[in-house]
Amino acid sequence: MAVNIQDLRLAARRRLPRSVFDYIDGGAEGEVTLRENVRAFEDVSFRPRSAVKPPAPDLRTTVLGTPIAVPFVFAPVGSSRMFWPRGEEVAAAVAGSTGTIYSLSTLSGCRLEDVKKSTPGPAWFQLYLCGGRDVASAGIQRAKDAGYTALILTIDTAVAGLRERDVRNGAKELTSKSWPMLPYAGQFLSRPRWLASFFGDGGLMTFPNVMLPEGPMAYADVGAALEQSTVTWQDIKWIRELWKGPIVIKGVQIGEDAKRAVDEGANAIVVSNHGGRQLDGVSATIRILPEVLAAVGGRTEVLMDGGIRRGSDIVKALCLGARAVLIGRAYAYGLAAAGGPGVTRAVEILKTDLTRTMKLLGCGSVAELDRSYVSCDRW
Ligand code: FNR
Repeated sequence: MAVNIQDLRLAARRRLPRSVFDYIDGGAEGEVTLRENVRAFEDVSFRPRSAVKPPAPDLRTTVLGTPIAVPFVFAPVGSSRMFWPRGEEVAAAVAGSTGTIYSLSTLSGCRLEDVKKSTPGPAWFQLYLCGGRDVASAGIQRAKDAGYTALILTIDTAVAGLRERDVRNGAKELTSKSWPMLPYAGQFLSRPRWLASFFGDGGLMTFPNVMLPEGPMAYADVGAALEQSTVTWQDIKWIRELWKGPIVIKGVQIGEDAKRAVDEGANAIVVSNHGGRQLDGVSATIRILPEVLAAVGGRTEVLMDGGIRRGSDIVKALCLGARAVLIGRAYAYGLAAAGGPGVTRAVEILKTDLTRTMKLLGCGSVAELDRSYVSCDRW
């Protein structure tokens, strides 16, 4: 049985072909930020209240006014259908039954309508502008009609980051449907179970939430599409006209951008460096969180993601002022390892970690977590 998220990661590695595992696991360039996101939590130390026996801690909170049973939300993770058949639907179902929110990436392998139907809980739609305004507008309209309750605008992806593992594994060639894929295709033969499940689910990835005139966007076209459709502050205006619900700005990495996001009317922001997949060499998000909170000054909700592998990481982020966190790889490893039960296991691990950590801290509810429970003397 998987005892921690690292066990799920290793199980995912055993099941997946190398290119798919590295797509989840890898980061940009030297992977400095990827490692630092995880490591920086070690620099935050707990200050427990001992000799108290708190009741079972209350893990509930709210995000954008939506009650959630745990202080974490599922982050948008593109191409989850590659990890497990109907991957986005499977993960969304677990998020809903956990009592939390599922965020669906624009670049998902499942139709956004099907994903919404698969979860009993609320869902947010993460927007890239791939294909241009008309294509994105159609996506926004579909998300509205399907019942998504918030739009996440990811602002850290001016161009696709260079994930060197993906280049080496031929991630692009593998989707070319023709001879360039051949040198890379052998890896799939060593993972026949994955191969059978992937082709049983329709095989080659396209993106049905990016409907171009010629049909859904192809996997191989993502890099160019992202570059041609960089999200800018000016885009918020026209998006606002189409989308009256809350807008979450994800990918804030400095205090100035946090202020700008609030001025532009963001209803929440996510301190995020895309899990170390975009600009390598930026600081760990947990290090940036205090700067962003100071800049925002309580004018909007501040969430964070990056490097969350244990419930204690979540507790630290909440103590430092995050309203809640987003988890990315933590559930993606579970999905890739064992589908729905794997995601459920990831959630259980984080929930039991949270409960135990809070009992050991002597704290009875996430609402009571504050700066007095941690010290950052190694910063
Ligand atoms: C992502 N992330 C992401 N973010 C986004 O806004 N749109 C997307 O399509 C994706 N796709 C994606 C794929 C994969 C495989 C990963 C691992 C991540 C980033 C994600 O939402 C989140 O910011 C990070 O995953 C958080 O870091 P951790 O929890 O993975 O360390």
